[in-house]
Amino acid sequence: MNLAIVGLQWGDEGKGKIVDFLARDFDVNARYQGGSNAGHTVRCGGEKVIFHQIPCGTLNKNVTGVIGGGCVLDPKIFFDEIDGLKRYDAAIEARIRISKFCNLIMPYHILIDEYREGTKQSIGTTKKGIGIAYEDKYGRIGIRVGDLYDTETFEKRLRLNISRKNHILMDVYNAEPLSDREIFDLYMEYAERMKPMVADDTLILYDAMVKNKNVLFEGAQGAMLDIDYGTYPYVTSSHTITSSVGIGLGIPPCSVERVLGVAKAYTTRVGLGPFPTEDTGLFGDRLRESGAEFGSTTGRPRRCGSFDAALIRYTARINGAKEMIITKLDVLSGVDKIKIAVGYESGDEFDPFAADTLVPKYIEVPGFVEDVSQVRSADDFPAEAVNYIKTLEEHTGLKVSHVSVGPEREAIVKM
Ligand code: GDP
Ligand code: IMO
Ligand code: MG
Repeated sequence: MNLAIVGLQWGDEGKGKIVDFLARDFDVNARYQGGSNAGHTVRCGGEKVIFHQIPCGTLNKNVTGVIGGGCVLDPKIFFDEIDGLKRYDAAIEARIRISKFCNLIMPYHILIDEYREGTKQSIGTTKKGIGIAYEDKYGRIGIRVGDLYDTETFEKRLRLNISRKNHILMDVYNAEPLSDREIFDLYMEYAERMKPMVADDTLILYDAMVKNKNVLFEGAQGAMLDIDYGTYPYVTSSHTITSSVGIGLGIPPCSVERVLGVAKAYTTRVGLGPFPTEDTGLFGDRLRESGAEFGSTTGRPRRCGSFDAALIRYTARINGAKEMIITKLDVLSGVDKIKIAVGYESGDEFDPFAADTLVPKYIEVPGFVEDVSQVRSADDFPAEAVNYIKTLEEHTGLKVSHVSVGPEREAIVKM
């Protein structure tokens, strides 16, 4: 069975925890979009590991991790991550494959992202160079992993890029120019180390599927950050929804056999842009504190608010999700009455074009005081927690397959 795990909100839904939890039943775990902007947290045995580029199911030694052609790769962050993971598996490099089609994040992408974020054009990016790297990819001047192994082409393309980027750096941002020699040497070193891992993702995935192996597709970011269907322009620069799986790995769309959406029991967003149920008062502060809502990649405080069922109806529809996993239910413990947005004053459908003017219509359900973080069986949830989950199902039209009640791998309840 090939399964896609996708975020149904603005990212940070807990996808990392879910992928790690499910990965023991899979042979291949593939990322198909995004790059080091992702921060997927896995907690096991009391230790916390944050994955940025590497599929986070690879803590399981049975899993081959694939970074697909639809991703953008920052080699420095990638190797730092590999080195950190060697504590868990000294031979992890043997299980990681990087697509030769993957576009590289270059130092000038990061610099320009940082400079642009200091201007009126800021949208609150992670400053990892993601948007600029995708601009180059679609502008057909990007440098792909596979290009590193044709030194002449690489050198030519790098020179062209550096000369264009130096214009921007000097003329627009009044910054120092970059040296192509230094970057060339650095990326040649990366290329050497990366070489045994570089592969054709389309073949790896094809072979796995022909042999009926189980493939776990790991989405990064969330549907509301999708470049087309999210809250544009406050989005990331890739397609974050399940349709992206095929294009990001060079496999047909029908490869996705099951879609599991992941949503927090409330909503968060990091970075700028509309957020209809945002609570800038005490409730938002409480969620941030009890949920430790600070970005896994940048450490920025996350904006917090109530669960938005109308938004989930939209994101589930565009992802083809019929089921979802609710995470962080434990964080709501002690909330007297829990609000859920079920539509908006202007109508019940979420419309990304109107997102900054939508006024939520809320219902309220009784909260629960019990600490649910030790619950491992659905029968042990307090009645109010069960009612909350049932209400989410009713207003989203999705079946809740699991509820996560803590960051650790085993803190999850099958419903
Ligand atoms: P991702 O980007 O979707 O993988 O999510 P992040 O890792 O950025 O953020 C989710 C945060 O919530 C991480 O710190 C997780 O360890 C934590 N987390 C995941 N599930 C739960 C849960 O059920 N309860 C609590 N309290 N924390 C959780
Ligand atoms: P995971 O995979 C939450 C947000 C940024 C910013 C916008 C564009 O951990 O869920 P970018 O650096 O991608 O150009 O920034 O997207 N963003 C995320 N927010 N979780 C993420 O990833 C994110 N990746 C990017 O905060 O608003
Ligand atoms: Mg994250």
